[in-house]
Amino acid sequence: MKTSTQQPTIGIVGQGAVGLLAASQLALRHLPCHLLTRDPALSVLVLNFRQQQQEHSLLLNCHKPQQPVQLLLVPVKAFSVGQALQQWLPSCAADADIVLCHNGMGTLELAQSKLQSGQKLWFASTTHGALKSGPHRLQHTGVGRTVLGPINALACQSSPPAALLAAALGPLEVVTDILPVLWQKLAINAVINPLTALLMVKNGELTKPQYRRQIELLIHEFCLVAQTKGQTFDPQTLCQTVLDVAANTAGNFSSMQQDRALMRPDELEFITGFLLNAAAEAGIAIPAHQQLYQQLRAVKPA
Ligand code: PAF
Repeated sequence: MKTSTQQPTIGIVGQGAVGLLAASQLALRHLPCHLLTRDPALSVLVLNFRQQQQEHSLLLNCHKPQQPVQLLLVPVKAFSVGQALQQWLPSCAADADIVLCHNGMGTLELAQSKLQSGQKLWFASTTHGALKSGPHRLQHTGVGRTVLGPINALACQSSPPAALLAAALGPLEVVTDILPVLWQKLAINAVINPLTALLMVKNGELTKPQYRRQIELLIHEFCLVAQTKGQTFDPQTLCQTVLDVAANTAGNFSSMQQDRALMRPDELEFITGFLLNAAAEAGIAIPAHQQLYQQLRAVKPA
């Protein structure tokens, strides 16, 4: 039984960069959590965590929690959300807060269908940058912020797990409607990720004038699709936002570039694929995104 003085049991799924960043921030604030990994033999993860010129050696707890998980953070790739929830929801309390955190869209219905009736579903969209350069090495490469919003009806009526999320991935902003945030992030990912993955370049390359026309076209098409879902964006402002992100992360490789360089599955289906499906539903042609999608599907990962 959880008492009012006890900290809720926190579970963080996987060993991805954002999950390890959240676990590290909690550990540095003496807020213990459980890393929920696929390896049942792993009990502790020794992590060398670098943040603002400081090195920390952290011991992250990978034991399966004895108590029901009250807060489940699911910072896994979009294509792993279903499997992650299948595996870890049985370890969660009947009234747990479940927080998705990934690039792309298209997982919300599936996630809702897996929840028990008393569980609350949230989405956290973060701009923190973290680089995992080995199984035991993580660097906080870009200090960002996180926006948290409710997804299911129960979450809309409940208070958000704001304090813990702020400790893990703050500064935190809580919003009542997360969809505009997710669509804006989708625009950023639908331009930067496929282009950098195709060209095998760092994000900063896209700020060069030679890519401007293609980026404007991608954003124009994006805005047409977003509009059919009730999301209105000004193309010029959105184009500038995308270019600002590319400039602010100039020295980084995008997650899709890294996935393809390392021959891992990528999130193209949940980014460009999601957009193409939404366009098809609305009867809109988006040839610039279609072409990028086909080019990426035609080229085998490096
Ligand atoms: O997926 C990524 O890499 C990031 O979301 C972003 C913002 C494109 C920066 O690299």
